[in-house]
Amino acid sequence: MENLQTIKQRFGIIGNDMNLNRAIEKAIRVAPTDISVLVTGESGVGKEYIPKIIHQLSHRKHAKYIAVNCGAIPEGTIDSELFGHEKGSFTGATQARNGYFEVADGGTIFLDEVGELPLTTQVRLLRVLENGEFIKVGSSKVLKTNVRIVAATNLNMMEAIHKNKFREDLFYRLSTVDINLPPLRKRKDDIHLLFRKFASDFAQKYNMPTIRLEDEALSTLINHPWKGNVRQLRNITEQISVIEKNRSISIDTLKHYLPDHISNFPALIDNQSKSSDFANEREILYKVLFDMRNDITDLKKLTLELMQSGAATTNKEEDTQRLIQKIYGNENEDNLVEIIPPKKSDAYQEEPTNYNDKYEDAETVEETLSLQEKEYEMIKKALDRNLNKRKFAAKELGISERTLYRKIKQYDL
Ligand SMILES: Nc1ncnc2c1ncn2[C@@H]1O[C@H](COP(=O)(O)OP(=O)(O)OP(=O)(O)O)[C@@H](O)[C@H]1O
Ligand SMILES: [Mg+2]
Repeated sequence: MENLQTIKQRFGIIGNDMNLNRAIEKAIRVAPTDISVLVTGESGVGKEYIPKIIHQLSHRKHAKYIAVNCGAIPEGTIDSELFGHEKGSFTGATQARNGYFEVADGGTIFLDEVGELPLTTQVRLLRVLENGEFIKVGSSKVLKTNVRIVAATNLNMMEAIHKNKFREDLFYRLSTVDINLPPLRKRKDDIHLLFRKFASDFAQKYNMPTIRLEDEALSTLINHPWKGNVRQLRNITEQISVIEKNRSISIDTLKHYLPDHISNFPALIDNQSKSSDFANEREILYKVLFDMRNDITDLKKLTLELMQSGAATTNKEEDTQRLIQKIYGNENEDNLVEIIPPKKSDAYQEEPTNYNDKYEDAETVEETLSLQEKEYEMIKKALDRNLNKRKFAAKELGISERTLYRKIKQYDL
């Protein structure tokens, strides 16, 4: 039997986590048998290695290995793809076709995202698994095949069974042996190893020096929840490798690439059920709320700073612009343009403002209205001058085309 390290090297699998090793060892052991295997684990954990290892280490290795992504094939054609069809069996079936189960006879079929199979296909699959028999679409002749099946899913199959979306008998038949790959956050010791390997691969690919992490950034990387697992880590490493000029990556730089950096919500981090739409929605809501809270804190801090440093001018608009620029920087034009710089004229040459005043006074309301009027006027003029060509009008106004489009809709121009 081939040794664990050799297999990892041969398939390019990085990591020494105990549960990862256990999963690979299980695959090595079941490979020579014909037992069906179900590979489980979150998205991006490396499930696709397992059926390849099983096929390569089995007596079937010289026959075909076919990987089928069950989630990507339309419901109407999946039976025909898997089991073939007879000529004329449906509109467009001008030729007879051999399905994967015929083509892969003697080999292995990997049914990826098996939880997505329609119920009717599940019935056909159960029959093949039980006695190797299948019938082509539009035929009545029973055919035989000898195929090893390895399936994979990132869904909670018990939930799918409970909702009558997956047949329980098929589930037990498919998962004679279950190989589970742990999520990346549960193999923290492998994270830096993987990062270094990917960083070195991408440095080579793009012919640039290898990026490396500063200490604080490394600890952030290790403690990140990695909902997209190894795939997400690989993508982020590639992005940083390509984009960052400074090859020493600080914690701040790294955080730009970790959109779901929400360490304040530990309860969400362990949420494994990708299938739960509700959980996902709730998570997005939390993130939005969390971002908003941060924005408000920043805003309060900056306002206070401006007031305390005496930097606040008598011009409300100028102060607002400075605040916005401080918060968003100059590059985020979409956020900046909400207040279009008006001409230094009438509306803004007003009384010095007392910042302790309540915001919702009549003056503020009036000012908002006049701001909107000015905005409306400026947009209209810019559009007229540019013969309604949005691209040029946006350029003249110094805003993005998308923002202009939104404004046009808002003002019904
Ligand atoms: N241990 C590992 N070492 C090196 N690369 C890995 C490892 N695990 C995963 N990868 C890489 O991460 C990416 C995602 O892996 P894979 O496609 O197998 O995920 P998956 O579990 O099938 O996810 P999904 O459920 O979304 O299909 C691939 O590019 C794979 O090469
Ligand atoms: Mg996959």
